[in-house]
Amino acid sequence: MFPQTRLRRLRRNAALRDMVRETSLSPKDFIAPLFVTHGTGIKDEIKSMPGQYRFSVDELCKYCQKLWALGIPSVMLFGIPEHKDGTGSESYHDNGIVQQAIRALKQAVPEMIVIADICMCEYTDHGHCGIIHGHEVNNDETLDILCAQAISFAKAGVDMVAPSDMMDGRIMALRDALDDEGFDQIPIMSYAAKFCSAFYGPFRDAADSAPSFGDRRAYQMDPANGREAIREIESDIEEGADIVMVKPALPYLDVLKEASQQFDHPLAAYQVSGEYSMIKAAAMNGWIDEERIVMESLLCIKRAGAKMILTYFAEYAAELLAKK
Ligand code: PBG
Repeated sequence: MFPQTRLRRLRRNAALRDMVRETSLSPKDFIAPLFVTHGTGIKDEIKSMPGQYRFSVDELCKYCQKLWALGIPSVMLFGIPEHKDGTGSESYHDNGIVQQAIRALKQAVPEMIVIADICMCEYTDHGHCGIIHGHEVNNDETLDILCAQAISFAKAGVDMVAPSDMMDGRIMALRDALDDEGFDQIPIMSYAAKFCSAFYGPFRDAADSAPSFGDRRAYQMDPANGREAIREIESDIEEGADIVMVKPALPYLDVLKEASQQFDHPLAAYQVSGEYSMIKAAAMNGWIDEERIVMESLLCIKRAGAKMILTYFAEYAAELLAKK
């Protein structure tokens, strides 16, 4: 008790603070989400996400070589197809944009861990994450498409798949499908607790994937539900997920913390597009110190229990870490 206990004793100088610091960031913590589009020589800035781009495959390879040199071990790919249709057919086509990107990346940066997002919303003309019956997304028919995507990505050489669709039973279906095709070594990173969040707004602009009617509340989680998030994570682990994710990150640190206490599986957090764009917008106005806010946000996500962080700040944060 005070005056014997003085917590300020260990804060007096930088060396002491370094000595007792509980959490630290490394470029190895980061996974960079990237958008890939058809064409060549394209590096098209996304209006609502300043500093983020839609890359053609050649530009994507150059950018990933840079990320790799900075110590970032992994990227998550999102495809922007040439045309969209009711079943999102480009997503499971051998020459789909993500399949092309995977093949090229495994040549250009062979050791980088290439993760592919599994979902239908970027590829469907209605923008929903599954097969539509009337005004509803049909769960079980959607599973077949997700499995076809995963197998097609695996054949292209993907290192990991990450389903973000929030259909029930998808992890089990994907595990079975991958194993049946001989891909039993490909891990599944499950977007296990994915909330129905307005923080995805800029992403939908980037991927042109906003639903044309209704919203995603009938499959993504209600932001009010923390206990249900634990059930989602638990069931994905039972179905065979290798890594589980909480998304978004900063507004859901309580869920992240709870998950890290309850489960021993590696835990990922996704600092989503809206989290990114809010920081960028305020920084561009000179209202906040971008460098410090970015590093503090990432550090706090890690402190809450994330082993890895999907973040659009991956390159920026790795560059800052290299300077220190
Ligand atoms: C696809 C998907 C989305 C995001 C990741 N995968 C969009 C959505 O669910 O609407 C959002 C990522 C972000 O906002 O950065 N289902």
